[in-house]
Amino acid sequence: MLVTIPDVLKPEEVAHVRSVLETTDWVDGRVTAGDQAVKVKKNLQVPIDAPAAQELGQIILRALAGNPKFMTAALPLRVLPPMFNRYDEGMTFGAHVDGSIRAPGGQRMRTDVSSTLFLPPPEDYDGGELVVHDTYGTHQVKLPAGHLVVYPATSMHSVTPVTRGSRWASVFWTQSMVRDDWRRHMLYDLDMSIISIRSRLPDDDPAVVGLTAHYHNLIRHWAET
Ligand code: NI
Repeated sequence: MLVTIPDVLKPEEVAHVRSVLETTDWVDGRVTAGDQAVKVKKNLQVPIDAPAAQELGQIILRALAGNPKFMTAALPLRVLPPMFNRYDEGMTFGAHVDGSIRAPGGQRMRTDVSSTLFLPPPEDYDGGELVVHDTYGTHQVKLPAGHLVVYPATSMHSVTPVTRGSRWASVFWTQSMVRDDWRRHMLYDLDMSIISIRSRLPDDDPAVVGLTAHYHNLIRHWAET
């Protein structure tokens, strides 16, 4: 399931993140890539332990914590510290699957959900589409500044070569309370349906009460915490 979430960052937050990134040091993105990805990764990133990455990461984590659509799409148990990457002209990231286990600060985590937060407006660069392959085909994603896409970390994906300008993004992984993408997808669809009927029926309507109970009981049944 691929979900786009608009306006995760406000325009002033995007401007702040971009202005800090303007003055930070970038290193070769291959430093964090695994054996397969290292051969197809050609981009730049801010070192994970750089103070700028940590400060900006906190802004993103705060925004996610207050974003109901991210919460219901990812059902996060833990969100890894956001990373910041950059593709200048000619840079690209070929087909790969993100590493399944990461260990920020020595604590091992499973990556269930991958996220990309777009930072520049799409008209500022050509190319740089995120391409996600799933069982239903190929999806090309290029979103306005401050918008986020989440997709299963099990998906093969790539970033097409940038041919003009520079594409900046924050990428991060979430360990979900519900590791199975299909279960997360069903819970997301059910939650969207509950939101829809709650806009038309009173909250004490038996249909609303029953479906809400069903949602929570499925979470209780499937969640690992
Ligand atoms: Ni990736």
